Amino acid sequence: MSGSVSMLRPRAGNPATRPELTDALRASVEQKATAARELLTATVAEFGGDGAVTFANSFGAEDMVLTELILRLGLPIEIFSLDTGRLPGETYDLMSRVEKHYDTRLKIYFPDAAAVEAYVRGEGINAFYESIDLRKRCCQIRKVEPLRRALSGMQAWITGLRAAQSTTRTGLPAREFDEGNGLVKLNPLTDWSENEVWAFIRIHEVPYSDLHDQFYPSIGCAPCTRAIAVGEDVRAGRWWWEDPTLKECGLHVKG
Ligand code: ADX
Ligand code: SF4
Repeated sequence: MSGSVSMLRPRAGNPATRPELTDALRASVEQKATAARELLTATVAEFGGDGAVTFANSFGAEDMVLTELILRLGLPIEIFSLDTGRLPGETYDLMSRVEKHYDTRLKIYFPDAAAVEAYVRGEGINAFYESIDLRKRCCQIRKVEPLRRALSGMQAWITGLRAAQSTTRTGLPAREFDEGNGLVKLNPLTDWSENEVWAFIRIHEVPYSDLHDQFYPSIGCAPCTRAIAVGEDVRAGRWWWEDPTLKECGLHVKG
């Protein structure tokens, strides 16, 4: 399964990560950042902090905005990540930079080793390319089950989902009840545009993955993520061989 795209990309790097910081863009980012800070603060006031509210951090651009907002506010919100064992090297590099930049230690969940071993021995090392069922089973073992553990005992979780990211996320509310996991789910950036995310990152000098400059707007596991061509949908590089109306890994299933 090849992850390459044939269409040309500018040599200078991805212009989407460097929007022109016009007054209008700065104003809309400031307004949305204020709203996001208020939502995060209100969430802590409603549920309590550590042990009640947790943020799922994939280290994508949106999640780096939330990391900056949460850590700069000093809110007692736990931050966790799911290490599937198949993440790109650039994500581990960013994790390490984040630990230094914010002087923090990350909380990482790993998949159950016996489940991964059984899957790989039974189906093969890259079995996820062979069928949707095998792809979903891999996501189930490497992401969904560890997510259950991460959310266990929590009252609310925070994600970096945006409504404009895909057809499966259209109309996403800032707050919903996650029936599958049995807790409140907050999506503080749901109404942010890609431009606003990047303007925030530039204005606040937030660390981000090198892959974004190489035309990877959405980053997941290395074998299931490729670069996109100019004009392609931001999630076109995720499980690119699957139907775009169906591709979600199971972390964000609607109840
Ligand atoms: S996915 O479902 O297709 O993998 P996506 O990469 O768009 O999701 O990320 C959406 C949100 O899901 C992120 O903003 C983050 O909150 C959460 N998320 C995704 N992957 C991870 C991960 N590996 N660890 C923690 N949270 C994650
Ligand atoms: Fe497995 Fe790919 Fe899902 Fe990662 S994204 S858990 S490698 S199927």
